[in-house]
Amino acid sequence: MKPIQVTDGIFRLSAHIQNILFEGLWPIPYGMTMNSYIVKGRDIALIDGVCGWDGVPETLFRQFDEIGLSVHDIRYVVLNHLEPDHTGWLTALKKVTQGFELVATSRALRLAKSFFGLDASFCTLRPVQSGDRIDLGNGRVLRFEEIPNVHWPETMATYEERTGTLFPCDAFGSFGSVPDHAPFDDRLSKKELAFFEEEAIRYYANIVAAFSAAVKKAIEKLSPLDIRIVAPGHGIVWKKDPERIVDLYRRLAEWSTEPAEPEITLLWAGTERSMGDLLKVVRNEAEEDGVRLHVHKVPDTHISTILASVLRSTGVIIGIPPSSDPLPSPMAHVLDDLGRKRMTNRLFFWFGRTAGIYGQTNLQPDSSTDEELNRIFQKYQIRWENVWEGDSIRDEIDSIQQAVRILISRIRVRQESMEAPAKLAKAV
Ligand SMILES: [Fe+2]
Ligand SMILES: [Fe+2]
Repeated sequence: MKPIQVTDGIFRLSAHIQNILFEGLWPIPYGMTMNSYIVKGRDIALIDGVCGWDGVPETLFRQFDEIGLSVHDIRYVVLNHLEPDHTGWLTALKKVTQGFELVATSRALRLAKSFFGLDASFCTLRPVQSGDRIDLGNGRVLRFEEIPNVHWPETMATYEERTGTLFPCDAFGSFGSVPDHAPFDDRLSKKELAFFEEEAIRYYANIVAAFSAAVKKAIEKLSPLDIRIVAPGHGIVWKKDPERIVDLYRRLAEWSTEPAEPEITLLWAGTERSMGDLLKVVRNEAEEDGVRLHVHKVPDTHISTILASVLRSTGVIIGIPPSSDPLPSPMAHVLDDLGRKRMTNRLFFWFGRTAGIYGQTNLQPDSSTDEELNRIFQKYQIRWENVWEGDSIRDEIDSIQQAVRILISRIRVRQESMEAPAKLAKAV
């Protein structure tokens, strides 16, 4: 991969990764691009790095050569975030150079010492806090803003004042491998942009969603800056329309606690044979009402994809197969993950299929399913509201039909209540 000039004096050095689980957890079927940036003033700053896997640091060093630099030219190494996908290469850097200044928050410097042994005996430690600046010469000034807990406690963003370039590391990032011929939003087709937005939603849902309150604060903190370019640690660089990715992240942070899109996620377990007719009712109703439905079979669909769907959906429907448990454990596991990721304030209902098994046992499945669901929702305090007030729905097609209609009308009421103040504000 070649280094690419982002704007005058700023270069992006990158590495693609694929065929792995990101962080050992999250599938990246379309790969992922890790970005590091060089800012050239009279002094040279390197902002964020890449992972330390075999060959990756060497790829980065080769890219220095290609822009006429050597690693020994780096005066400042700026670490916005200490997670190994951005810092793993430091072990390799230590072997080839030293004496640079390590610029990061105090918390980050403590982590740099414990992770990589980078202390004052090896390099100059330069702790920074919000508002601090470093003049690189030739009109280049870096300014720092602490944005803690996006999604680690030590995180900050770096801003280059002359070009208005923001380096936010994980914030405003996405999954997906960036094509070499089109690293910026202004070179991508509408379809390609939509792809990176979808991958940003999945990235956010998987990595950042549980920290949405911190993301909101970060966006507010960064808003006084005149941001003309967003250059994140993952994904494309936003040059033509930087507000587009900031606005998407603003909405994602809101979706995790407020009504999201007027969409529904159907999570179901079992087999097509045992559940098919009930699922068909849900599909037909959603289609008739023109509501986008995301359907995921549990446990076949990876939680990564389910998290992204639920993040964007105001409504959730849970389909439970014939089972001797109130909730089959894979479904309980998925709901538990939704709680851990703070997918709050959803409207939902559930339906089950009995296949006649309960009549022949002493189990009381209906109340225990509700209890089990409530236990999960309460544990994470995620405030899911069951829109179905009647008896539990077991097998009844008419009730499912009615419940979907209620769910859709409740979603629309929520949307209108969200849109009304916005419309009023516009009118004023
Ligand atoms: Fe991270
Ligand atoms: Fe990252």
